[in-house]
Amino acid sequence: MEKKYIIQGKIGRGTYAVVYKCKRKSDGKRMAVKKMAIGDDGIPWYVIRESSVLKSLDHPNITKLNDIFIDDKFIFLVFDLYEMNLLQCIGEKNVELKSIKYHMFQLLTAVSYIHDNNIIHRDLKPDNLMIDENGDLVVIDFGMAYQLRNLDMSDELWAFCCSYKAPEVLLGSKKYSFGADIWMIGCTFYELLTDEVLFYSGSDREALSNIFDILGTPTEENWKGVSKLRYYNKNKFPDQNKNTLEYHLENNLSFEIDDTNEYNDIITLLQNLLVLNPNDRITAKEALKSEYFQDVKYDQ
Ligand SMILES: Nc1ncnc2c1ncn2[C@@H]1O[C@H](COP(=O)(O)OP(=O)(O)O)[C@@H](O)[C@H]1O
Ligand SMILES: [Mg+2]
Repeated sequence: MEKKYIIQGKIGRGTYAVVYKCKRKSDGKRMAVKKMAIGDDGIPWYVIRESSVLKSLDHPNITKLNDIFIDDKFIFLVFDLYEMNLLQCIGEKNVELKSIKYHMFQLLTAVSYIHDNNIIHRDLKPDNLMIDENGDLVVIDFGMAYQLRNLDMSDELWAFCCSYKAPEVLLGSKKYSFGADIWMIGCTFYELLTDEVLFYSGSDREALSNIFDILGTPTEENWKGVSKLRYYNKNKFPDQNKNTLEYHLENNLSFEIDDTNEYNDIITLLQNLLVLNPNDRITAKEALKSEYFQDVKYDQ
């Protein structure tokens, strides 16, 4: 590592990693290095995931893995350096309505490509979405990414961050799929528009009740099979049929939107991304065709 790079200041910290700025000695290029500990069991599964998945992907809105190093206790993954993550942009009120549309379009383009490659990212939240020096969005952090093998469905359990988890995952479905990423994109879209985490929760139980409070409690009628999911009957949820997502958006919106068509396009897309039943949720490809993006000029 030290032969090729000079490590500089710390720029980020995630669940498993500390990320530093570094300089490549050969050409002085500034890069980012993600440093993770190697435990007694060897290289952790999330590092193997991240590096193997990234090797199979090549897209302008997905980070590229430039280099890997190991010393006896740590493994280092070297990436291009990006300006800031979307969480920081939101925090600094550095978000414009126009750029939200552009970034959502780029995010959906990247995710459509990821899904075409039979991969679920599973951690699409604002701190894993970077903005580069040209203002383009780049998806990072593939440590949770999952390569689907059987029937386009995952049977792997999911044990992390609950505020962005899709209802089928929270209810214990063993057959969640690409829709779980779409849900996270819906949560991120809402957060960009309002500066609020839509379903902010400290536990899976709380996340479910926060979701059902806003979108209603799913029933066999609107979601066939839901009552058979592992955690459906273990929890007592109020029997309610409502959808107050638009009301929440209207009350928390950080922007004045004068154009009613634009506003309607936003709420339509948001409602389509955040459908309770994963089988009725929009796909990334369908979302890209929605009215909201009709005026996006895109030349990739
Ligand atoms: N290439 C990069 N350029 C700039 N900052 C980065 C880069 N990669 C990661 N970061 C920052 O470090 C944080 C943690 O990195 P991440 O890959 O998400 O690690 P973890 O898997 O531990 O969540 C990110 O949220 C981001 O702010
Ligand atoms: Mg992360």
